[in-house]
Amino acid sequence: MAVLEIIHYPDDRLKQASDTVTLFDQSLKDFLVDLEETRLSGPGAVGIAAPQVGVAKRIAIVDLTELKKPVDNHGHLLMINPEITQWQGMEKGREGCLSVPDFTGNVIRAEKITIRFQNSEAQWAEFETRGYEARAIQHEIDHLDGMLFLDRLVSRRADLFQRKVYKK
Ligand code: CO
Repeated sequence: MAVLEIIHYPDDRLKQASDTVTLFDQSLKDFLVDLEETRLSGPGAVGIAAPQVGVAKRIAIVDLTELKKPVDNHGHLLMINPEITQWQGMEKGREGCLSVPDFTGNVIRAEKITIRFQNSEAQWAEFETRGYEARAIQHEIDHLDGMLFLDRLVSRRADLFQRKVYKK
């Protein structure tokens, strides 16, 4: 197990689209362990995506189960090749990112989505989710497409906020 180095904006590797995972082997499982350890080593991140540690593969983790203020969620999600198949509604909300440690921003996302993804055994799962979990999943999938929340701000002046302390 290892904590991996997190890449920060404006590193070009964060702008690159990631590749589909085709090999579901032990090295994938090992990487998932490292990615999770890296997420947990940071300050209270609900999600992380492989490109944030310089690995251009369609892999992301979202876990809202440890939030101080509990929200509806589907547990600890290890998502390989995740895809959103339906979007509904729109909602503005505040986001942060381990790769953009000094800022948070207001971003408009779909309020409700249908998500499908593979687990580390290559089995597909699909479900509907909404609210904060839907937002976190959309944020992580953006990483796989080379996008950051900074790319989705309507206005840098109105919607970008400096963090004083990146709190747990
Ligand atoms: Co992020």
